[in-house]
Amino acid sequence: MAAGQRGQFITFEGIEGAGKSTQLERLVDRVRATGQELLVTREPGGTPLGEKLRGLLLDPSIGTMAAETELLLIFAARAEHLRHCIEPALARGAWVFCDRFTDASFAYQGAGRGLGAEKVAVLEDWLQGDLRPDLVLLFDVSARLGLERAVNRGKRDRMESEDLAFFERAREAYLERARWQPERYRVIDGSADVATVGVAVDEAWSEWLSRAAKGHRPLGGR
Ligand SMILES: Nc1ncnc2c1ncn2[C@@H]1O[C@H](COP(=O)(O)OP(=O)(O)O)[C@@H](O)[C@H]1O
Ligand SMILES: [Mg+2]
Repeated sequence: MAAGQRGQFITFEGIEGAGKSTQLERLVDRVRATGQELLVTREPGGTPLGEKLRGLLLDPSIGTMAAETELLLIFAARAEHLRHCIEPALARGAWVFCDRFTDASFAYQGAGRGLGAEKVAVLEDWLQGDLRPDLVLLFDVSARLGLERAVNRGKRDRMESEDLAFFERAREAYLERARWQPERYRVIDGSADVATVGVAVDEAWSEWLSRAAKGHRPLGGR
């Protein structure tokens, strides 16, 4: 991309254990090898205050939290993240890889907790204005497989302690969003082995890059 252009904003989404973090690491290496400045970050978190809010959100000892509290804490962390981290990076032309973003709020709080998409959309519009990810890599696995992997990874956090039905609702909401805006989303089957999923990511990435370079898709904005 030409110098002086706004950077690209790429998010990694999917339920627990879908393979987001594993595949993000792989793609980071590929992009950094090109010399492109890349900010790698995650939600909730990404700033000192955001990481403290993440600690609260994931602390199993907190137990139940009103769904509205959860959503607002996540958006509070997101406000910090956008203003202090993501927006300045994009403005200077860096690309941003973010492990989860607002799609996760639609999936987890909107669908999983049952708050509904409208409430999430109000906060999204209010906080983000026109800013949306340029590309969402959505890793799709069944709730059962995702939870199995998450459990094998170790101690469960507060979100991972939810039941299968919660993650099934979240998965369906993610897929629905991908169907709604196919040009922005790439759904990757996350159920295969790490290397096979990696090949699918590489293919989706190359295809998206060439489309972006040809200007088939507006860069940035809605
Ligand atoms: N394709 C895969 N096949 C089998 N295990 C995987 C695969 N991708 C990731 N894992 C393992 O599953 C667990 C969850 O993967 P992770 O990348 O942390 O998922 P997420 O970030 O989506 O929660 C980790 O222990 C990881 O090593
Ligand atoms: Mg992860």
